[in-house]
Amino acid sequence: MSAKERKKRSAETAVKEEKQIAVKLIPVYIMGKRYEVPEGLTIMKAMEYAGYKFIRGCGCRGGTCGACGTVYRKPGDYKLQVALACQKTVEPDMYIAQIPFFPANRARYEFAELTSAPEEVFKLYPELFRCVACNACTKACPQGIEVMDAISALKQGNIAEAARLSFDCIQCGLCTSRCFGELAQYHIFQLARRIYGARIIPRAEHLAEMVGTINEGRYDQILDELKQVKEDELKRLYQEREAEPLAAGEDWKPKDTRYL
Ligand code: SF4
Ligand code: SF4
Ligand code: FES
Repeated sequence: MSAKERKKRSAETAVKEEKQIAVKLIPVYIMGKRYEVPEGLTIMKAMEYAGYKFIRGCGCRGGTCGACGTVYRKPGDYKLQVALACQKTVEPDMYIAQIPFFPANRARYEFAELTSAPEEVFKLYPELFRCVACNACTKACPQGIEVMDAISALKQGNIAEAARLSFDCIQCGLCTSRCFGELAQYHIFQLARRIYGARIIPRAEHLAEMVGTINEGRYDQILDELKQVKEDELKRLYQEREAEPLAAGEDWKPKDTRYL
């Protein structure tokens, strides 16, 4: 290596070292082993920094897929806490373990055979009545769902209310991991929302109307024409289409209303 290259290399090393000094490292324990990781990282990023590779237990990295359930405890605190690894930031001396998969009970059923009778939910998930109203599920939920209230609504046969309350559930399973009654709340809620969507909520008339016109072949000709168009022309048509403005009101319509 020439003197010039050596000089360049040492300047680069100095810059790297300076950056490292600027980042404060904090100690955390991942699966029982101590690591020093930069302050401010999420648990997920801290684990990756420490050399862990997520093969599963990681999806969206944005708090919406529910794949990254993690369990941790802070020093001096007897309480076990849960969070999403992609959302929770590390704290000094935190003990962290990742939950790769949570083996929770999911009832088997033929959905087409179900009605909206609450007794059917009770039969599929009799453990509903093991709930002791401890509220640990609500405290664990990263989505801020009133989990215990949704379970109570179901126990009272109010499927619609359970569906409404659990609408933002991301199926992370953290409520289940803390449940005294061994309930898999997220699977039960999913059934409630399915029943609500298919059997309880009134049908949207405008949607049925639109599906009817599609089935009658209203768009067949234009779709056939588009299938014949070359790729570049298709791209041009797409790019030049009249897009709905972001702040459009409910009554917005495109200039060309032939396909509405
Ligand atoms: S209800 Fe349970 S599974 Fe759903 S988001 Fe909350 S903690 Fe996760
Ligand atoms: S954690 Fe389980 S037992 Fe406690 S309130 Fe929630 S559903 Fe009921
Ligand atoms: S990776 Fe999807 S919620 Fe964390």
